[in-house]
Amino acid sequence: MESGLDRRKFLALGAAACGMLAFTGAVPRKAAGQTPPQPIALEACLALTPLAMADSSAVVDRDWKYLLEVAASIKDPAVRQKVQAILDNPAPTLADRLADPKTRAAVHAELAAKGFLKGQTVTGLLPPVADPSKTVQPFRSAPGSGYTSHHAFPGGLVVHTAGNMRNTLGIYDGYVKNYGLTLDRDTTVVAQMLHDLHKPWVFAWADDGTSRQEQTLAGTGEHHVLSVAEAIVRGLPPQMVVAQACAHNHPGDAKDEADVVGWITAASILAGVDPVKAELLGPDGKTLPLPRRMEGFVCHLGDHDWVLTGPAGKWTTVALGELAKERYGIADTNSKAFNQFRNYVFAHGTMMGLYAVYSASGKKALADAVAAIVKPV
Ligand SMILES: [Fe+2]
Ligand SMILES: [Fe+2]
Repeated sequence: MESGLDRRKFLALGAAACGMLAFTGAVPRKAAGQTPPQPIALEACLALTPLAMADSSAVVDRDWKYLLEVAASIKDPAVRQKVQAILDNPAPTLADRLADPKTRAAVHAELAAKGFLKGQTVTGLLPPVADPSKTVQPFRSAPGSGYTSHHAFPGGLVVHTAGNMRNTLGIYDGYVKNYGLTLDRDTTVVAQMLHDLHKPWVFAWADDGTSRQEQTLAGTGEHHVLSVAEAIVRGLPPQMVVAQACAHNHPGDAKDEADVVGWITAASILAGVDPVKAELLGPDGKTLPLPRRMEGFVCHLGDHDWVLTGPAGKWTTVALGELAKERYGIADTNSKAFNQFRNYVFAHGTMMGLYAVYSASGKKALADAVAAIVKPV
């Protein structure tokens, strides 16, 4: 499969479409083995912050605990500490050096010269941040992607990353059992854990219940390059950064590898390192370090839940818009009222959990599942 092309097509389609996704499967509120909470009133849901929505969700709670457990299983103590620090505070520390106007101008010139910018300036490209040592929101309240894309609800990043991690460890186990491979588990886990680490920054929640619109950098969503740059700045080992950079494409042939090389090159410019000296690229700067390791492929394969979660989220959002009009008195699906309703419902039900109900049992069953989260008016 031409996965890079498919991802680009997907991102373009997502920008034009409606909402989408989620990963955990089972109907949401029983997923953590807890007594399902009572449905809340629509007015209460309209007043909640994204963090409050995420923190009230059993699915987000379950998946956040899972991510913390996996992070604790990283064997290398220094790497484990760095990963835990990022989950605790995914601050855009890479923005610190870019606050200097001279550095920023030099970075802009280098990115532009290599064709990584599409008319943007570095100033216009970077998401706002008041203090680069502090995250703009906790990891656990961030959406899993842009508002018209997959896992677009409070806690969506946790659900997306946890789903990816389960898939990644499944792929890892399969390769180890099938071929007796000696894949490095730390590299595999760290690459997937950090693959979208700057989504809390890039997709900050807005007052109207949507999230910031992402720009493109080096031909992919800026969150990817910024996440790789942050991993470099935070001092993650090069083979882990390289595997992380493969999330959006794999180095299986020259054309696809060129994508990954471009993202690592752009991230290195932002981070202020020489990617060859830093062992992020091969000696000529045109390939990954040779021979190419396998963990990046596992990271790439593990970041494919969007194939289903994207469209499932889009279709569920359309159906939820109809329910909002029919049962909740929300006529405008472009309103803050709908966004708040949508965000709360998906934080609890997940786009995938609700699409599982809708696709298997129809709209009445979906309406009942939504009514178990927010009371119809
Ligand atoms: Fe990504
Ligand atoms: Fe992802």
